[in-house]
Amino acid sequence: MPELEFPERQATDTQMLTGFWYRAMPADRVHRHRLYKATVLEIPLVIGRDRLGQPFALRDACPHRGMPLNTGQFDGENLECPYHGWQFDVQTGNAS
Ligand code: FES
Repeated sequence: MPELEFPERQATDTQMLTGFWYRAMPADRVHRHRLYKATVLEIPLVIGRDRLGQPFALRDACPHRGMPLNTGQFDGENLECPYHGWQFDVQTGNAS
């Protein structure tokens, strides 16, 4: 699971405010069929692209018991938690 560091990051977490948009990673480094980890404002994220190439970012913690979703199975549409198998639509975050 690649977690990339980017020296060109806009600001440190302490300078950032919630409720605003921040770049978690450059779009051209996010490829289909792969999951990436990033942390923004001390919030762990799982990032990727769906089968159509649309980007997504979800909190990297299953709402059931908090397992990191980045270690789950991703079929290009749904991300399955590795612990109990709950599945989430990566574009909406809704359980399916
Ligand atoms: S911790 Fe994810 S389904 Fe239970």
